[in-house]
Amino acid sequence: MSKTIGIVTGGGDCPGLNAVIRSVAKAAAKRGWEAIGIIGGYQGLLPPQNTRPLQYHDLDGLINRGGTILGTANRGQFSAKTGHGEVRQLPRELLEATRRGMEQLGIEALVSVGGDGSLTIAQQMHEHGIPIVGVPKTIDNDLAGTHVTFGFDSAVACATDALDRLRTTAESHNRAMVLEVMGRYAGWIAIYAGVAGGADVILIPEIPFSYESVCAQIAAREQAGKRFTLVVAAEGAFERGGGFVTAAAQQENREARLGGIGARVATEIEKRTGKETRSVVLGHLQRGGSPTNMDRALCTIFGAKAIELIAQGKLGRMVSHTGGGIDSVPLAAATAGLRTVSLEGSFVQTARDLGICLGD
Ligand code: F6P
Repeated sequence: MSKTIGIVTGGGDCPGLNAVIRSVAKAAAKRGWEAIGIIGGYQGLLPPQNTRPLQYHDLDGLINRGGTILGTANRGQFSAKTGHGEVRQLPRELLEATRRGMEQLGIEALVSVGGDGSLTIAQQMHEHGIPIVGVPKTIDNDLAGTHVTFGFDSAVACATDALDRLRTTAESHNRAMVLEVMGRYAGWIAIYAGVAGGADVILIPEIPFSYESVCAQIAAREQAGKRFTLVVAAEGAFERGGGFVTAAAQQENREARLGGIGARVATEIEKRTGKETRSVVLGHLQRGGSPTNMDRALCTIFGAKAIELIAQGKLGRMVSHTGGGIDSVPLAAATAGLRTVSLEGSFVQTARDLGICLGD
């Protein structure tokens, strides 16, 4: 039976969103269904609706194109996470207006491509009776219920490349270089890129650090004749006994903006060791540009799976990577809590085995 489905991208952009849009629309077309893109996040479902058709000829060149052709939003009335990840319940009237908006557009099921915030909204919509499925997107890789999210591999590739570049200048100048990476309250980008890029110190939110430990690593390296040190600091890393470092004052109904820990660590290293130290904030470079091959493939698989879930009537679920295959989990389970770096996991273990300082 023919169906009309909607696709919406929400939260921060990330490499691979367009590849998911392409895959969803193609898999829908294969079944003879119509796909409609919602412009500017969930807001596009409300009158005056803002949408665009996603027909076969609209999908060329999307597999490797960065950003999202639909636009996205991580602010405004559709905000389900505020401050340091506190859940906000959307007003009933807003959910009802969204349901009616979808009905007016003739959309029978919505594919929400998003991270923790957008999928928390999706869960609230599901509870309100809106037919919806989720696709796990975020460079942070912090969604529960899936082994990996798309966008993460592209962000790690960017951060690893940055470390390679910082290494040559650190070596040439005998400096310590601190790279601050994104990831919010999870250290996935930092620990993957740190291990892949051969960092000497990796600071993640899951392990509060001490400057004594960081400086001892630098001193030990100097002792061994290594005159440079590469440090990766997740934006959510914090000193033992301290708190998160934020880049801006808290805004109403928005998540806290983390940032500044890299500069702080660099200043402290220089003060305590006398070693010339510089810091770099990698920032939104991690979210821009084309997805990696791994992400393109993952997005294509995730998009097709979302359409399969709708066809099977498995609504209120998120596509998930099990580690060995592709499955789905209830949206409620995916948004119940963040998936952070396990202290018993292989990355932390490997870092310790290699003598990488984790700040503890
Ligand atoms: O969740 C993705 C992410 O890039 C985080 O890593 C980062 O903390 C945040 O979004 C930045 O958000 P914004 O683009 O609003 O500054």
